Amino acid sequence: MVRLSAERKNELMAEALALAGRAEGMTSPNPLVGAVVLDADGEVAGRGWHRKAGEPHAEVLALQEAGGRARGGVLILTLEPCSHQGRTPPCAPFVVDSGVSQVIAAVADPNPQVSGKGFSHLRERGVEVEVGVMAEEAVRQNEVYFHWWRCGRPFLSLKAAASLDGKIATRSGQSRWITGEAARNAGHHFRNKMDAILVGVETVLEDDPLLTARPGGVAGRPLTRVVLDSRLRTPPHARVLASRQGSSTIVATTDAAPLARETALREAGAEVVRVQADPQGRVSLAPVLEVLGSRGVRHILVEGGGRVHGSFIREGLADRLLYFLAPLIVGDAQAPGAVSGLDEEELQSLPGLFNVTHEVIGDDLLIQGYFKKPIWKEFEGGKGV
Ligand SMILES: NC(=O)c1ccc[n+]([C@@H]2O[C@H](COP(=O)([O-])OP(=O)(O)OC[C@H]3O[C@@H](n4cnc5c(N)ncnc54)[C@H](OP(=O)(O)O)[C@@H]3O)[C@@H](O)[C@H]2O)c1
Repeated sequence: MVRLSAERKNELMAEALALAGRAEGMTSPNPLVGAVVLDADGEVAGRGWHRKAGEPHAEVLALQEAGGRARGGVLILTLEPCSHQGRTPPCAPFVVDSGVSQVIAAVADPNPQVSGKGFSHLRERGVEVEVGVMAEEAVRQNEVYFHWWRCGRPFLSLKAAASLDGKIATRSGQSRWITGEAARNAGHHFRNKMDAILVGVETVLEDDPLLTARPGGVAGRPLTRVVLDSRLRTPPHARVLASRQGSSTIVATTDAAPLARETALREAGAEVVRVQADPQGRVSLAPVLEVLGSRGVRHILVEGGGRVHGSFIREGLADRLLYFLAPLIVGDAQAPGAVSGLDEEELQSLPGLFNVTHEVIGDDLLIQGYFKKPIWKEFEGGKGV
């Protein structure tokens, strides 16, 4: 039996996490998973990572590479092996058949169809199972996936590019470009990891954005573009409706929108989805998230404007903030702010952020933080596995 020190286990798990990370932005709605196989002498015999939904799972690829050398060896895996038939056959029986005598996993799969069952399958067949090595890092890598199974809705990252006084445009609506090129490139990098990008109709009317991820990024995968537009003011010639890199566009609206505008937008290539109106007559957010979730969308980048950001924050639906701060001052009370529509008067009741980080990008500053305590904090030091 191979016996590994705690340090070696962490080293191997770090390698498995790095392998998993190679497919960042590609596997949704599946998680990122990486695997390393050691032979009976403790030498690395196979490596694998899940590349895309519908393609083989990490442990299968790593065990296939190891072949007969897996017998009596160890499988190091960033997430519990599945035990149910999905788009691919269950992995736990494959792990047993490979002959490995130990499995070291970071964390259990939060999907109730799998959770604990994959580990039980292995233990019942004599495979030694250890869970909890680098659990926090593994959950952090798959926070969107864990969030989905915990909350049943997509993870929402709000992104804004603002001046030092928190303005995202001038009063005449000019917002290009508040931040410098390096920050804009970073913005495209975020888009590449997403399943969907969402904006309010004022942003479409003012900026006429394409809302695509720049080709050649990590994913290069079609994105779902979403516009919140309760009366269908989106013009049929808006660039967001133009087909690009296979991206599709959903215009979410209410029953207040005239049918003729719906027809015109459909003819322009959009899908128009009617949901209930909120008390202000605007598009209700929860039903939109439900529609997107049912289509496999797990991570949405909300790119403004301020009113849309304000709505997500007020409804408690915002999960993370990506705030690019540029060394500019607009200094105009009439210019739109990064967040509007919150009416909290008490300073201590204002939404604050958790786990805040700062990063200098070119001349700009990127401030990131969470609106709630992130799920991965619950797994700190191997707790909660
Ligand atoms: N620098 C940046 O990062 C950045 C990014 C994006 C935008 N911008 C700038 O921001 C400005 C637009 O921001 P904005 O705050 O005026 O508008 P916005 O957030 O883009 O759009 C707001 C509009 O969306 C519609 N909407 C539908 N459902 C909604 C809901 N549940 N909550 C909120 N809005 C909903 C409403 O119009 P209906 O009632 O007609 O549906 C609402 O007036 C533009 O000048 C743009 O250039 C800057």
